[in-house]
Amino acid sequence: MTRIAVVTGGTGAIGSEICKALAAAGRKVVAIGHPSESGRVDEWRQRMADAGVAATTQLADLADYDSARSALRSVENTAGPVDILVNAAGITRDARFVKMAPEAWRAVIGANLDSVYNASHAVFAGMLERGFGRIVNISSVNGQKGQFGQVNYSAAKAGMHGVTMALAQEGARSNVTVNTVSPGYIATPMVEAIKPEAREAIAAQIPVGRLGRPEEIARVVAFLSADESEYITGVNLPVNGGLFVSH
Ligand code: CAA
Ligand code: NAP
Repeated sequence: MTRIAVVTGGTGAIGSEICKALAAAGRKVVAIGHPSESGRVDEWRQRMADAGVAATTQLADLADYDSARSALRSVENTAGPVDILVNAAGITRDARFVKMAPEAWRAVIGANLDSVYNASHAVFAGMLERGFGRIVNISSVNGQKGQFGQVNYSAAKAGMHGVTMALAQEGARSNVTVNTVSPGYIATPMVEAIKPEAREAIAAQIPVGRLGRPEEIARVVAFLSADESEYITGVNLPVNGGLFVSH
């Protein structure tokens, strides 16, 4: 049977590779992007088609409960019940804590953590009823160890794994697994946006000696969302080139 997979942040750098990996695993893929991306989704769908991936898109502000719910309802009406949800939507608004404005706190908690509640809440009951579900939350090494300048992001990403551990217990008897993947620093615009001095200092600490590749995250998501992975739930899987163990 063809399983329906929704990837929030699916039009982003890591999300796009997750869409490709899930499509390669035989999933029917729907990417949810932010409404600000409306001018770019046609080009994104074309890029996916060029890569042999027939993914569709929805636009929603996932930090908003009603917007997220209506996007997920629309997916269910057009594609079918959601079997796999990958929560990859996220943003950064880095600043030292003394300079961190309330807006930067709220925006990051909203996009990274509220979005997980909002999207998961729209599909979890259906997964329980059908006796199958895979939720994968894309957190970060900085949710595991904290990061200077990222009090908001570290809180949101640590919170995502809190959701994973609790929700995994609610899904366990119904073959609904919930897991976290915690990437390290991946070669993406999000990392390119770090000030060069700070970025170079971070890159120098990665034991493997390079930034990660988006497809290295996607492979792990495909593994965790496989039908056969039903005995893996509540875990936090770091994919960070050894960065975590160097601290
Ligand atoms: N440890 C100790 N001190 C640090 C520091 C660190 N890691 N990073 C910066 N500082 C200090 C500087 O030395 C400087 O100190 P002095 O004033 O005494 O000289 C001070 O912080 C500078 O702070 P400012 O408020 O003036 O701000 P800034 O413009 O230099 O920026 C910052 C500060 C935003 C934290 C910047 O250093 C930065 O972007 N750091 C990287 C944060 C980071 O890792 N972000 C990850 C983004 S990618 C991502 O999030 C994906 C993922 O999940 C991995
Ligand atoms: P990205 O390219 O910016 O992708 C994130 C996507 O999420 C973007 O398409 C973004 O849309 C979307 N998004 C943000 N807020 C949203 C909202 N409220 N509603 C709907 N969509 C929203 O970033 P990435 O590097 O691929 O990161 C993907 C995920 O991995 C994020 O959760 C990030 O925190 C996490 N992560 C990244 C790294 C890394 O090194 N890159 C490391 C660890 C973890 P807009 O473009 O319109 O904002």
